[in-house]
Amino acid sequence: MSQLQRRTVLGALGAGLAGALLARPGRVGAPHAAYFTDLTRALREAGIATPTLVIDRQRLHANVQQIVKNIGARMQLRVVAKSLPSVALINEVLALAHTDRLMLFSLPQLMQLSTGTHRILLGKPMPVAAAARFYRDSKARPPTEKLQWLVDTPQRLAQYRDLAQQQRLDMAVNFEIDVGLHRGGIASAQSLQEMLAILQSEPRLHWSGLMGYDAHVSKIPDIAGSRQGAMDHARATYAAYAQQVKATLGAVITQDATFNAGGSPTYRLYDGSGIENEVSVGSAMVKGVDFDTPLLADLQPATFIATPVLKAQSRFQMPYGVEVLGDAARLWDRNQDKAYFIYGGNWLADPVSPAGLSGSGLYGTSSNQQVLVGSGLQDLKVDDMVFFRPRQSEAVLQQFGDIAVYEGGKIVQFWQPMAATA
Ligand SMILES: Cc1ncc(COP(=O)(O)O)c(C=O)c1O
Repeated sequence: MSQLQRRTVLGALGAGLAGALLARPGRVGAPHAAYFTDLTRALREAGIATPTLVIDRQRLHANVQQIVKNIGARMQLRVVAKSLPSVALINEVLALAHTDRLMLFSLPQLMQLSTGTHRILLGKPMPVAAAARFYRDSKARPPTEKLQWLVDTPQRLAQYRDLAQQQRLDMAVNFEIDVGLHRGGIASAQSLQEMLAILQSEPRLHWSGLMGYDAHVSKIPDIAGSRQGAMDHARATYAAYAQQVKATLGAVITQDATFNAGGSPTYRLYDGSGIENEVSVGSAMVKGVDFDTPLLADLQPATFIATPVLKAQSRFQMPYGVEVLGDAARLWDRNQDKAYFIYGGNWLADPVSPAGLSGSGLYGTSSNQQVLVGSGLQDLKVDDMVFFRPRQSEAVLQQFGDIAVYEGGKIVQFWQPMAATA
């Protein structure tokens, strides 16, 4: 190799090394901020040392109040029970929001909450056998107008008609309409007309309103007006179906008909200017990670998972036989320098404090003792708490037993979650 060639090769190697060093992830992380230090102290004082779901009551209250303020007098608020699955939590929210409207999604939750004190709208159509089971097993039988069954097709409505006839039941039925999500609901004027005909032929069926859910709107990239286009389409579709119902049923439509729309991601897009007269909100009240969106920026995360560190490794080690992979990972990424095995794990949740921890793609995950890796700037020791933020509240709130309610620097109550059923 000539001197010139050698210099070129060395130069290229040097440039490669410099490039690699530049691309190397920077060292990040910090100990708990004051909020989580205080929360750790409160949990310790309450004797909590196992994975626990915490709700920050002050933040919950602030969120509910903010949502109520945002909606104003323009529309009504319906609380989505599946996203706040604890009777105590639901009652707290209903009282704060001054509403008795609930949206329910499961037969066991319907059994539990149909005491007659709430106005219930089902958020999904139940198979008719589930409705029959409700009337067979439910201890309380709410007045007809307090329980709106959701019906999405002429076939299902015919099944509900048969049930109403056989069991001499009066049933309020709300029609689900497809406003663009295509998850379910009436998708043509013809279907709606068939359903209206069935309804008019059966005095035991009482039309109570429409429900059109628009979750897709917030997911569509906000490029070249496509999100606004989806919203305009949803509202125009809603208005057209409502008009068709009005034209057919006329005077049957009363002031208190339910025109339900929206959910946490989209409730702010409704201003009461259309036919929709209520929005459903649940998840945003505790705000999991999936609800960190611009439209919900005025709300705060109000739920966390706390769990202790069981083992702190001063250097991240992969298992015997592949230890070299851990060494390479540590060399390359200083944020994989230390490892912490925690009590539990593998939740639908992201580590949030201390900052800069992450799961290990190399080591994998575990529901029993998950490993988290970090730079060491977190200053974590055995028995210290690690906090996660659930991505969603639905289902996750039901995985930890009693929910610890945090208020004024203390754990002040425990709320029993609803049983984890579908
Ligand atoms: C019909 C319907 N309405 C509203 C919602 C919104 O619920 P949340 O506010 O908890 O996102 C949902 C969520 O799945 C839904 O299915």
